Amino acid sequence: MVMSVRMALFHLIFLLIVPGVYSADGWDVSYSHPYICALKGSSVIMSCTYKYPPGNQVIEVNWVIYRPNARNNNSPDLSDDSEYSPSIQYLGDKQQNCTIRLNDVTQKDSHEYYFRFTTNKPDGRWTGAPGVTLDVTDLQIESPESVTEGDTVSLTCKSTCNLSDRTTFIWWKNTQSLTERNNKLLLQSVRREDAGRYSCAVHGHKLTSPHVDLNVKYSPRNVSVSMSGSGEIVLGDSVTLTCSSDSNPPVLNYTWFKVNESSSVGSGQSYSALQSGFFYCVAQNQHGSQSSAAVQVTVEGSSGRWLVVVGIAVGVGFCVGAAALIVVLCICKCNRSKANAVKTEYENVKSTDQTYTALDLKSQSSDVYNTLIIAERQTLQLS
Ligand SMILES: *[C@@H]1O[C@H](CO)[C@@H](O)[C@H](O)[C@H]1NC(C)=O
Ligand SMILES: *[C@@H]1O[C@H](CO)[C@@H](O)[C@H](O)[C@H]1NC(C)=O
Ligand SMILES: *[C@@H]1O[C@H](CO)[C@@H](O)[C@H](O)[C@H]1NC(C)=O
Ligand SMILES: *[C@@H]1O[C@H](CO)[C@@H](O)[C@H](O)[C@H]1NC(C)=O
Repeated sequence: MVMSVRMALFHLIFLLIVPGVYSADGWDVSYSHPYICALKGSSVIMSCTYKYPPGNQVIEVNWVIYRPNARNNNSPDLSDDSEYSPSIQYLGDKQQNCTIRLNDVTQKDSHEYYFRFTTNKPDGRWTGAPGVTLDVTDLQIESPESVTEGDTVSLTCKSTCNLSDRTTFIWWKNTQSLTERNNKLLLQSVRREDAGRYSCAVHGHKLTSPHVDLNVKYSPRNVSVSMSGSGEIVLGDSVTLTCSSDSNPPVLNYTWFKVNESSSVGSGQSYSALQSGFFYCVAQNQHGSQSSAAVQVTVEGSSGRWLVVVGIAVGVGFCVGAAALIVVLCICKCNRSKANAVKTEYENVKSTDQTYTALDLKSQSSDVYNTLIIAERQTLQLS
């Protein structure tokens, strides 16, 4: 209790002795936002009021930026400063409002700004310090260097100064706008479909960040084998199998397998199959591997076909040979039988009426036929 009374007294005395500290002398400039973080290209309003003791009349108002080694009083008014780029609009007056607007600000305009006014009285000049600090920022997306499918990825729309907490962000993927309204875009368990160009902006402003390409890495997918031709080949030919897949980064190595064989039969994106069987490939990159379905290669039994051809040729040859032999033997035997028959005919012609029988060549020459049949059998056995 005693302490607080003492403190109050102390404050009262202090106020009476050092009036200027609390602007008791009536000179003051106050800025409603001493710090402003603004987006490049935007318009900035610095709200400001000022006051001075009665009897003064304001004759000059200036907004200035201090330069190193330049004295406060000599710094030029922004509108007279050739090095100062943004267009300036003084929205205030010569009574109490010193609000100013800076249009289309750039990073070069990041300074501390002060309002200065001059009255008609001697020493009637006042500069409001500290002033308004302006930071001008652009937007950049911060994203991880490398993203693998399944990762949780956070993209941040970065500014070099703290924009207001109420700032609404806009996100785009390629040309499509996303629903996220924060400066962080969270992609849970990223998929390869999430790959694309991302950019961000602040609602109500034209400025857009440069885009970033989100590159999502994934193990081979859609591994398949394509085949030159139908997959049916004849012995001595080969069929070319080609393995294709979708992967990021590209496949490091392809390995070929034959179903029911444990070790690989080849490597490389293409494989020449020479034998019948089911073949498949395995595509591998840094993130994993995947197998294709098996494809069937059938080698036509061309050696069998040749055997058939040779067999037929040999058979036909023997048949022709046998037939020729039969004809030859027949001719020989016939001639002989005819001779015999004629002889017999002559012997029998006188006594008996056996002309018909004698003339029946077949009955007379049955032995010839038997001989021919035996010859033919022997020929077939030979073959
Ligand atoms: C100062 O002037 C600006 C622009 O005309 C106005 O928007 C603002 O409300 C004024 N401020 C005060 C305190 O009167
Ligand atoms: C921005 O705000 C955060 C906390 O909200 C603070 O840690 C950081 O220093 C601020 N950055 C600047 C440049 O003012
Ligand atoms: C790859 O496979 C997916 C399903 O896993 C399918 O949706 C997609 O169309 C396939 N892509 C191609 C190019 O075959
Ligand atoms: C494929 O390449 C990777 C990396 O170089 C290696 O570890 C793997 O053994 C290779 N696979 C085959 C089947 O050669």
